[in-house]
Amino acid sequence: MRVLGIETSCDETAVAIADSPTSVLSSVVLSQDDLHSEYGGVVPEIASRQHEQAILPVVREAMKRAGVTLADIDAVAVGNRPGLVGSLLVGVSAAKALAWSLGKPLVGVDHVHAHLHAAFLAADAGALDSAFPALGLVVSGGHTSVYECASPTRLTRLGATIDDAVGEAFDKVATILGLPYPGGPNLDRLASEPGADERAHKFPVSRLSPDSLDLSFSGLKTAVLYAVRGVPGRDEPREASALSDQQRRDIAASFQKAAVDALLLKLGRAIERVDDCRTLAVGGGVSANSRLRREAEVFARERGVTLRIPEMRNCVDNAAMIACLGHVLLDAGRRDGLDLEAVPTTAC
Ligand code: KG4
Ligand code: ZN
Repeated sequence: MRVLGIETSCDETAVAIADSPTSVLSSVVLSQDDLHSEYGGVVPEIASRQHEQAILPVVREAMKRAGVTLADIDAVAVGNRPGLVGSLLVGVSAAKALAWSLGKPLVGVDHVHAHLHAAFLAADAGALDSAFPALGLVVSGGHTSVYECASPTRLTRLGATIDDAVGEAFDKVATILGLPYPGGPNLDRLASEPGADERAHKFPVSRLSPDSLDLSFSGLKTAVLYAVRGVPGRDEPREASALSDQQRRDIAASFQKAAVDALLLKLGRAIERVDDCRTLAVGGGVSANSRLRREAEVFARERGVTLRIPEMRNCVDNAAMIACLGHVLLDAGRRDGLDLEAVPTTAC
């Protein structure tokens, strides 16, 4: 079965074609970074207008790269939740039009669950069967959640951020340090420069209550703000531009350590709740972070579980994860009608 997947939840127009739950024939991602960078963040109206212009050329390109035509498509999957509603609507409308005109099944896919499934792309089908029960961590610009996963589609959320998503914290700290948009990868680069000292600042790692699996990043972000600009009422206000390169590197590295430590702390608590855990699956934009990738590797090795983490291009938003998780859902008999809605919030 060949599934055409569409992803337009935020600022990437993406289309992929999957021929199994873990393998893709093509995956095209058209990023809108250039359009949003001058505003320092995604402008929803610009994003949806751009999706509208890009969606059909991206569908054509994905089919061309896969060497297929519309007649070869057996089903259509689309990320229909969560996301910016105007952006989601473009993908959902395109998916409905394709499914209806081809007379093929349609299925809606949860974008956050798909980020987790991205960890399994390129795995062989047997590996997917034997990977569960698994502990899942989704770390993106909009979500930070920990899951117990009984299968790719049966996820129970054990905890989530109570304020900022970790990717949002990376982006905000990058802005505080004067780094260009998108902030996360630039901050990772700065923190990885030779000489960056992660012990220069002891930023707070939120624990919440002793058995909580929730996360919080707003205190960490404020601590970085005070380290850069001075504590209001105590220090003379300072500008980020007054920092030396070494000070900027040290702040970036110390922040990155605190953010990743907070994630690992909760994974340590969460793995105790997953009986017979076989796999740690990590997905979402922040799974591209070099420190998180290293630490997750160590965590999995020490706990005797297999680490699944996406290759770099499948960490951030893409349609390969939508097409492949769509494949799983369709195999299980899931079908949606032409009344499928674009839903801005997540189900869990
Ligand atoms: O998954 P994604 O593409 O979009 C959402 O669903 O939100 O994630 C984007 C987020 C952004 O916050 C971006 O700064 C962050 O992922 N990100 C990183 C890195 N690469 C992307 N954060 C830290 N280190 C990175 N290397
Ligand atoms: Zn995403």
